[in-house]
Amino acid sequence: MNEIYEVDSISKDDVREYKFTAHDFERVKKLIYNRAGISLSSSKQNMVYSRLARRLRATGYLSFKEYLDSLENGNSHEWESFTNALTTNLTSFFREQHHFPMLERHVEKRRNNGKIHLWCSASSTGEEPYSMAMSMVHVFKTYTPPIHILATDLDTNVLAKARAGIYPLERLEKLPKDKLRKFFLKGKGAQAGYAMVRPELKNMITFRQLNLLDNNWSIRGPFDAIFCRNVMIYFDKPTQYKILQKFVPLLASDGLLFAGHSESFQHAADLFKLREKTVYELAKK
Ligand SMILES: C[S@@+](CC[C@H](N)C(=O)[O-])C[C@H]1O[C@@H](n2cnc3c(N)ncnc32)[C@H](O)[C@@H]1O
Repeated sequence: MNEIYEVDSISKDDVREYKFTAHDFERVKKLIYNRAGISLSSSKQNMVYSRLARRLRATGYLSFKEYLDSLENGNSHEWESFTNALTTNLTSFFREQHHFPMLERHVEKRRNNGKIHLWCSASSTGEEPYSMAMSMVHVFKTYTPPIHILATDLDTNVLAKARAGIYPLERLEKLPKDKLRKFFLKGKGAQAGYAMVRPELKNMITFRQLNLLDNNWSIRGPFDAIFCRNVMIYFDKPTQYKILQKFVPLLASDGLLFAGHSESFQHAADLFKLREKTVYELAKK
């Protein structure tokens, strides 16, 4: 899951530019847990060092102690970059492919119910909500289906990339040619080597920052489906349970909750029951 980022972790033999003690790591762990619910295991020490050393360089702090003190003293601007640095944003188009035909069948059954509302609750750089939008074009056979997708994430950097919808061509290599032709505009000149998703897909989606840990999400349901994939793994079970509790009133009574391949909500069986592999429905309708 984290492999993309772990390549930048330093080896034991490297000389570190900044002193990074076990106490510093414990402080980081506590701060990011309280802020984002992310539980960092001790195996993540090198990763944390390399990601935050960049923030020290960028901000000019001379030690982790000074940097972490400034966060604790409420340096609100740096909080955002600190959080962005510690999230893991790995994603891809049509990741966990089997979910998309399932979403299509689910929406197909509801197509006469008026506008369909979908929520992608950890949208990262946008590949997931754009894949959902492409599936909706497929169901309704139009670039302007009666669909609204709310796409949220905690990390403001990835949200900016998602809004732009511009991807290097190598990120699109696994997409079938017909999808590439139908849903992307190939860049020319300065944009060569990149492709942008068609504006019609962007028009279906509202991107917004949302911390799943916040008490008040200020969003209104009901959603016909919620995607919450490959984010719960960063949270401990009590945090997962609290989030799942908040999904319940936001999901339509016959709505679906899509989870990531290694996520199970068995510990919340009173809230959600398994419908199919990693897809859940409300336990009480
Ligand atoms: C590994 S990516 C998964 C992206 C996509 N859902 C997928 O399955 O391909 C996890 C995403 O969760 C986001 N995230 C982490 N903590 C979060 C939180 N507390 N609230 C909302 N999003 C969070 C990260 O910023 C990151 O973009």
